Amino acid sequence: MKIGFLGSGKMAEAILSGILQSELVAPCDVIACDTSDERLNLMKSEYSVETTRNAAEMVKSCSVVVLAVKPQVMELVLEEVKDLFTDEHLLISIAAGKKLAFLRGACGDKPRLVRVMPNLALMAQEGMSVFCMDDKDADPDRELTSRIFGSSGSVLELNEEYFDAVTALSGSGPAFVAYLLKGMIDGAVKQGLAEDAACLMAEQTMIGTGIYLQQSGRDIGEFIQAVCSPKGTTEAGMNVLNSSDVAETLGKTLAAAADRSRELS
Ligand SMILES: NC(=O)c1ccc[n+]([C@@H]2O[C@H](COP(=O)([O-])OP(=O)(O)OC[C@H]3O[C@@H](n4cnc5c(N)ncnc54)[C@H](OP(=O)(O)O)[C@@H]3O)[C@@H](O)[C@H]2O)c1
Repeated sequence: MKIGFLGSGKMAEAILSGILQSELVAPCDVIACDTSDERLNLMKSEYSVETTRNAAEMVKSCSVVVLAVKPQVMELVLEEVKDLFTDEHLLISIAAGKKLAFLRGACGDKPRLVRVMPNLALMAQEGMSVFCMDDKDADPDRELTSRIFGSSGSVLELNEEYFDAVTALSGSGPAFVAYLLKGMIDGAVKQGLAEDAACLMAEQTMIGTGIYLQQSGRDIGEFIQAVCSPKGTTEAGMNVLNSSDVAETLGKTLAAAADRSRELS
């Protein structure tokens, strides 16, 4: 199996790095295609994969094509190669907001199609990728997609109708989480901590709490109650949070992002 990247920017690099590290494929089984020589040179020097500016040659050589260009150039890029797709091709799009129906229209009726919504944390191999399939019975494609994106984080299959909510939560989520972190860091600096120390402590606290909750499977409400000892420090802070509109604001934040995703797609 050869995997080609149509567009070799930041996200393609994160996926590529994951599949090479997990040894899903060897570098000689990957072709990176891009219009930027800088990106192609980096892909070659860092990952020893084959590189090309010629999208048609890449599509002819690869049975799996990861479409990783920006959504606004996608139609143009697919127009160039759509006649080269055969029944043997699996096309995996990671473009935000581009639905399966759009992709089918743009790539013709040949390739099997998977739409994935990854997130930026893929770059730290801790991504969240949600995918949906054009043909839900295509088990080998399901397994391959799970292995490709599972190489750099968690993977979940959901129906496409949920993708606006997915885009809001895990797609845009890294920015929202970073906002909350910034608030905690600024608060700690006001309490006298140096910014770099506060930054390390806040980030590690968020990472550790996420990992603990995920691994333990504990109910989040029950966990919060358990760490709030009566009249203790956590309870004092939680009292402020509980009497604020932070939870409601987060709900509105997610709703606005999901609404925007609906508008865009
Ligand atoms: N970044 C995220 O957090 C994120 C999250 C979820 C989904 N996505 C999706 O991931 C996709 C890629 O995003 P990215 O952040 O990796 O973008 P990026 O870093 O800009 O990478 C896209 C690459 O495609 C190249 N390109 C442009 N036209 C091309 C063509 N005709 N043939 C081959 N390559 C071409 C670009 O080159 P030039 O720079 O020279 O144009 C660039 O190197 C997007 O569709 C985005 O919606 C991104």
